[in-house]
Amino acid sequence: MKYSAVKGVQDVFPPDVYLWQRVEAVAAQVYGAFGFQEMRPPIMEFTDVFVRSIGETSDIVEKEMYTFDDKGGRSITLRPEGTAPIVRSYVQNHLYNRPAPQKFRYGGPMFRYERPQRGRLRQFYQLGAEAFGDAGPEIDAEVISMLRHFFGRLGLGSLSFEINSIGDSRCRPAYKDALKGFFAGKAGSLCPDCVRRLEVNPLRILDCKVPGCIELRKDAPVVGDYLCVECREHFAKLKGLLDLIEVPYVVNPSMVRGLDYYTRTTFEVTSRALGAQNAVAAGGRYDGLVREFGGPDTPAIGFALGMERLVELLREKAPPAPAPRVFIANLGSDAVRRAQVIADRLRADGVWAETGAPGSSLRGQVKRADKLGAEYVLFLGEEELGSGRAGWKRLADGAEGQVALSEVEDFFRGG
Ligand code: HAM
Repeated sequence: MKYSAVKGVQDVFPPDVYLWQRVEAVAAQVYGAFGFQEMRPPIMEFTDVFVRSIGETSDIVEKEMYTFDDKGGRSITLRPEGTAPIVRSYVQNHLYNRPAPQKFRYGGPMFRYERPQRGRLRQFYQLGAEAFGDAGPEIDAEVISMLRHFFGRLGLGSLSFEINSIGDSRCRPAYKDALKGFFAGKAGSLCPDCVRRLEVNPLRILDCKVPGCIELRKDAPVVGDYLCVECREHFAKLKGLLDLIEVPYVVNPSMVRGLDYYTRTTFEVTSRALGAQNAVAAGGRYDGLVREFGGPDTPAIGFALGMERLVELLREKAPPAPAPRVFIANLGSDAVRRAQVIADRLRADGVWAETGAPGSSLRGQVKRADKLGAEYVLFLGEEELGSGRAGWKRLADGAEGQVALSEVEDFFRGG
């Protein structure tokens, strides 16, 4: 019987896994320098956690969630994103009692039943960050700048930062009305989903992927024209701050994002090298969500980046994968035993050591060392054991030398 992985999921193995580790390490450093501490929320939540926050009319809730009843009959969902679980945790654990702002970072798999294609998976991995308790545009600028530095550290300097403001509960209703008015006469040309969206949430028409709807919305009213004074000021200040700290950005007035919880600032980081699924990170402010979960009025902002998309961008710049420091080629049973001891001591000190397969030819062993990319080969045979000295070869440049067996561990431990 042959098994294959579930459609839309992927295995991550070397050498890609080293890129993943590098991204995680850089994220820990850069997010850490901005004060974001790690949180590890669970992968499953009660379904309502997502329905209420992401929105009943969003694509995610309407068609993409992995939802099942557990044996107790409770509706459970594998998280399609990380913000709602963190808000749930923030409220449930009264984290708002800690000094504000509280800043968290997280990473892990998310699940969405989408049509798999390049850059779009059913299980994908996000690295996200959420900051609670700060209403000012300063934190918006900080979060966006954090992403800029993060990508910069990874050598990705040419990504595009798009920002927008989508207003708040005061000004959004007028914008929704304007959209309703605009699309009302065109309902016959909208897709069936959008006809429904027109009634329940016309904003969602703006991220419909059906070509006819995309065409139809070209002249739709833009949210920027409907912002209230406070939202307008917030956005203007944010742009000023981004200029001040020299984050290059473009305003994309038609970016509304596909999740319902956003207020005011939204942003996306895109790459032209990625094809249709070009957003490598995205986020925004969600000032009403903590309250909706039963917590105190707490402004918040965050983002998540898509690991698989990021790794695709990094593949060209992949650093060399780790390789053994030394491969101990051995001939004869005493050499096999001695090789085992040397390797064990080196490994105990965190030095990657490999030994040749007992009984295999010297030529075969050297070939294997080369395949593994070992830095050195150490040659151990009867003669070496007798004389207490063994020869080594550095594979990269062919340099050769000798080392006393009594000092061999020190020799390979050194940098
Ligand atoms: P999102 O835009 O749905 O936002 O996802 C963020 C990023 O996750 C995307 O830009 C993309 O890189 C990656 N992504 C999303 N779906 C897939 C997929 N099916 N396959 C591969 N990668 C994918 C959120 O999830 C929000 N929770 C972000 C946020 C945090 N907003 C505020 N705080």
